[in-house]
Amino acid sequence: MATCFTKKPLISICIIFSCFLSHAYGRVNPNFQVRAVNLGGWLVTEGWIKPSLFDAIPNKDFLDGAGLQFKSVTVGKYLCAELGGGTIIVANRTQASGWETFKLWRINETTFQFRVFNNQFVGLDTTTAGNGIDVVAVADTPGASETFEIVRKSDDLSRVRIKAPNGFFLQVKTEELVTADFKGDSGWRDDDPSVFLMTTTGSPRGEFQVTNGYGPAKATRVMREHWSTFIVEDDFKFISSNGLNAVRIPVGWWIASDPTPPPPYVGGSLQALDNAFLWAQKYGVNVIIDLHAAPASQNGYEHSSSRDGSQEWGKTDQNIQQTVDVIDFLTARYAKNPSLYAVELINEPLSPGASLESLNKYYSAGYEAVRKHSSTAYVVFSNRLGEHDPKEFFPLVSGLKGSVIDIHYYNLFSDIFNSMTVQQNIDFIYTNRSSQLSQVTTSNGPLIFVGEWVAEWQIQGATKEDYQKFAKAQLEVYGRASFGWAYWALKNVNNHWSLKWMIENGYIKL
Ligand SMILES: *[C@@H]1O[C@H](CO)[C@@H](O)[C@H](O)[C@H]1NC(C)=O
Ligand SMILES: *[C@@H]1O[C@H](CO)[C@@H](O)[C@H](O)[C@H]1NC(C)=O
Ligand SMILES: *[C@@H]1O[C@H](CO)[C@@H](O)[C@H](O)[C@H]1NC(C)=O
Repeated sequence: MATCFTKKPLISICIIFSCFLSHAYGRVNPNFQVRAVNLGGWLVTEGWIKPSLFDAIPNKDFLDGAGLQFKSVTVGKYLCAELGGGTIIVANRTQASGWETFKLWRINETTFQFRVFNNQFVGLDTTTAGNGIDVVAVADTPGASETFEIVRKSDDLSRVRIKAPNGFFLQVKTEELVTADFKGDSGWRDDDPSVFLMTTTGSPRGEFQVTNGYGPAKATRVMREHWSTFIVEDDFKFISSNGLNAVRIPVGWWIASDPTPPPPYVGGSLQALDNAFLWAQKYGVNVIIDLHAAPASQNGYEHSSSRDGSQEWGKTDQNIQQTVDVIDFLTARYAKNPSLYAVELINEPLSPGASLESLNKYYSAGYEAVRKHSSTAYVVFSNRLGEHDPKEFFPLVSGLKGSVIDIHYYNLFSDIFNSMTVQQNIDFIYTNRSSQLSQVTTSNGPLIFVGEWVAEWQIQGATKEDYQKFAKAQLEVYGRASFGWAYWALKNVNNHWSLKWMIENGYIKL
């Protein structure tokens, strides 16, 4: 509605023109196809795309979601949340796996909370029956009794002691008794029951980790610097002059409460998105807004800004409504901009957390929220990750005008690609992807969008020519997607994941 009808006659002529060019699904130009690039790693942080963003974080191996394991130097065994949580902490495991891994919640660079396998937090037993020093994992939400300091040995950072909120250090009295009552300082010796050898399973590096890692005093400056330098006006010029006609822009739910999003997120990403729309308009680039990080995380990955790998999206009506409100906000803000081409309601939801039921509920309400402000923007529905009927949302969307299904095709993230040769990878595109695409393409159903793909694979040391053939195969096959495709991504320190690098170095020509 708002995009095509405006009270200003001069503007309306060009806006109506642009609607007819590309916005009128099935009306005027059914042959328009999106040839897009994802602006990944910009408004939703992904550490692997730009690792340097994390460089200046103090104690940066202690980010939210880092999995830590602690081996007592005196008993030589690992701390373990007995039964995975809900009861005592013991120190009687010879190997470390799920129950022996403690996920960090970072308070600041020295202060942390520890989440166990079953999601409780480690704390002191302060119940009336408890003695205030036994270490347990029973609290569902962390408070002062669940807040610890990690003290590292300055010349050996893997040697640590854990200071409890009562001011004493944790000690392993026996394999079955861990208490917070060690007073002394024995100089990090191997007979000190408060010393642990720490190993880490690594941490996610998403928006939560980077903002909480820097903390309130520094995060705003770091993020604003990133937003204003990672994607600039020149990138839109590059896009429009290299055979691309659209961008898919991943955003996070916190953008809707800019300039004062809930901590640790910081304000300013909305200004960056405003700039993108200005540049898009200037260079004739279409914009697909993609809600990549939904509140409480729809897939547990860093790219949905999960704090510790947990995935809580869609579990309550309130959470779904909050997500609909984000879509409502974004569509209302940009509906009058002729570059708004589509709104993608959520990226890569993952079952079982993101159930079919909660997605159907959300998708109906999200569609209405877009339509409240725009009759022309396409509404993109993402298929779930994993093995599901690729047409599972067809019953829901088939009656909805301007609906699009987003499918992501990577020759990665599955064992079937591990031993494939160059030719097998290419054949897989021409046969398997091609037939998968035909299977979901129907004459009266939703349009199909290959919203993410990349010319990268499991193969090491492939030649430039191999990459060229692989990219060409994908362009050919995904070029048949009725809505179009989008490469992941424009920029990335890993060259093959950067369409800019691939174009500038002659690997991909559009
Ligand atoms: C970290 O947080 C704790 C608990 O709030 C506080 O006592 C401590 O001073 C903080 N440390 C730093 C370095 O900010
Ligand atoms: C560890 O200690 C707990 C508590 O006493 C006990 O139930 C469990 O069986 C022990 N596990 C091992 C592997 O010794
Ligand atoms: C790809 O398609 C071919 C031909 O239909 C089939 O034989 C093969 O099993 C498929 N490969 C995989 C990995 O799914």
